[in-house]
Amino acid sequence: MRSKIIAGNWKMHGSKDSVTALLSNIKSNFAASSPQLIVFPPYVYLEQVQQTLKDTKIQWGAQNLSANEPGAYTGEVAAQMLLDFGCKYSLVGHSERRSFYHEDNILVAMKFAQAQRHHLIPILCVGETLQQREQGLTEEVIREQLQAVLLLQAGVQGFRQAVIAYEPVWAIGTGLTATPEQAQEVHQFIRRELAKQDEVIAAQVSIIYGGSVKAVNAKSLFAMPDIDGGLVGGASLDAHEFVEIAKCIN
Ligand code: PGA
Repeated sequence: MRSKIIAGNWKMHGSKDSVTALLSNIKSNFAASSPQLIVFPPYVYLEQVQQTLKDTKIQWGAQNLSANEPGAYTGEVAAQMLLDFGCKYSLVGHSERRSFYHEDNILVAMKFAQAQRHHLIPILCVGETLQQREQGLTEEVIREQLQAVLLLQAGVQGFRQAVIAYEPVWAIGTGLTATPEQAQEVHQFIRRELAKQDEVIAAQVSIIYGGSVKAVNAKSLFAMPDIDGGLVGGASLDAHEFVEIAKCIN
């Protein structure tokens, strides 16, 4: 059985007060039977999140990590530091990192490897731009994003302890959502790519969908056979909406 995951990517949002309010609302509405909930706050709120969630089943992680060991890298945060604050997960290769901070496939693969070296579970974000989709390049782009990780890691073994998030760039923060069929097609493609190397790992890895997920569209997305949950941006800043999305998973 694959784990069902609802992850909230808070991006660069929040304040001490809003984090307190958001977490207390999530905690009070969260049902024990929910899927795995994970929140990804900005780094500076990790301690607050750790203190608030430590006795709950809700997990937390970082939105990014350094590919390097601790050292002279101004402004970066090392995997060991994330462990210090109880993180279990880290996003790697979110499209905003790829586009605004020029993270290429190789750097993303190095971050994936660095997370695993320190027993953090990477959530590898992959996805195509609108232009790439319109040019019929979706599969090629995603294959390359996966390949970089497969080449740098011990092949597909790296996906034993990892999650993949398919996030079409054109659907992130735009209000445009992939249809359940469009998303399913890509999720199935990702699973088939991994299955070429190992069918068991491909069948076990959770592949979650991201891009304008909301309570109104979540149920039909999560009903698809290869969609194992969601990576939620904007809607994860609203506790009620976030919990309603989580309820859409069987
Ligand atoms: P969105 O963001 O839900 O606001 O589209 C998703 C993401 O960037 O992970």
